[in-house]
Amino acid sequence: QANLVSIDQLTADDALDFIHEAQAFKAGKQVHLLKPAYAMNLFFEDSTRTKTSFQMAEMKLGMQVLNFNAATSSVNKGESLYDTLRTIEEIGVNIAVIRHSQNNYYQGLVEAPNLKIGIANAGDGSGQHPSQCLLDMMTIYEQFEHFKGLKVLINGDIRHSRVARSNAEMLSRLGAEVYFSGPEEWFDPQLERYGKFGSFTELLPKMDVINILRVQHERLSGSSNSQFDEQAYRKQFGITSNRIKVLKPDAIILHPAPVNRGVEIDDELVESPHSRIFTQMKNGVFVRMAILSSLLRYQKLL
Ligand code: CP
Repeated sequence: QANLVSIDQLTADDALDFIHEAQAFKAGKQVHLLKPAYAMNLFFEDSTRTKTSFQMAEMKLGMQVLNFNAATSSVNKGESLYDTLRTIEEIGVNIAVIRHSQNNYYQGLVEAPNLKIGIANAGDGSGQHPSQCLLDMMTIYEQFEHFKGLKVLINGDIRHSRVARSNAEMLSRLGAEVYFSGPEEWFDPQLERYGKFGSFTELLPKMDVINILRVQHERLSGSSNSQFDEQAYRKQFGITSNRIKVLKPDAIILHPAPVNRGVEIDDELVESPHSRIFTQMKNGVFVRMAILSSLLRYQKLL
């Protein structure tokens, strides 16, 4: 791959290839760069997991990682993302990992004829989060070793979620049955092409995977945020100790994190046997090694 910016770029077989390579890295596969390779992680939105695990993946692959601080960069003087990337490419950076609040920020960049730097999208607004999607797929595959016919429920703040969009699309491509639940006003009807919206409590006992989502306070409008009632949400849509009892014995719970403990899932259930929330974080490093390897191979650096 020259870039990985959207899950639209990947067939089901491509996703399985990434999962298998990530599993090989998890099992200890080592690679050796053909030439020195340099990465820069440009995060214009906050992140703990994605930024740290891309950085860890870069280091495990033997890349050199250059610092970028959005708050003190020349973007604050009005420099465009194109000029920022063109600059760091000229300085010698091979791969840019970018998180940005603007949906589709990458479109003009991947089409720009003079830009050769590899781009890995680390999340764009409410658009796409391909590396999160692949690590979620890896975590599901580790549990079930297939996707065909698996029932997967995506629950919660769907409208604002790039994870919901990426996962629904890839899960349906991989042959899983996708369902949605949560506050109806937070559903995006455009996602109906991937699965039906239904009642959380009715769907829960039938599901193999329950992908709960973070309530994204930063993307809610001022009035909906001030009216948001955490306890009412937990009561209707949270994973509580009573609700977890109705799950199938081998059902797993995913959450992209950070978790609003006591809202989307009760505190004591975050590390319960059904939960794969911290496994997702571990798998994130190996999936990102697989993504970066693909970009490095394209540039003949691996
Ligand atoms: N899941 C996720 O993207 O987490 P961060 O925002 O901490 O990177």
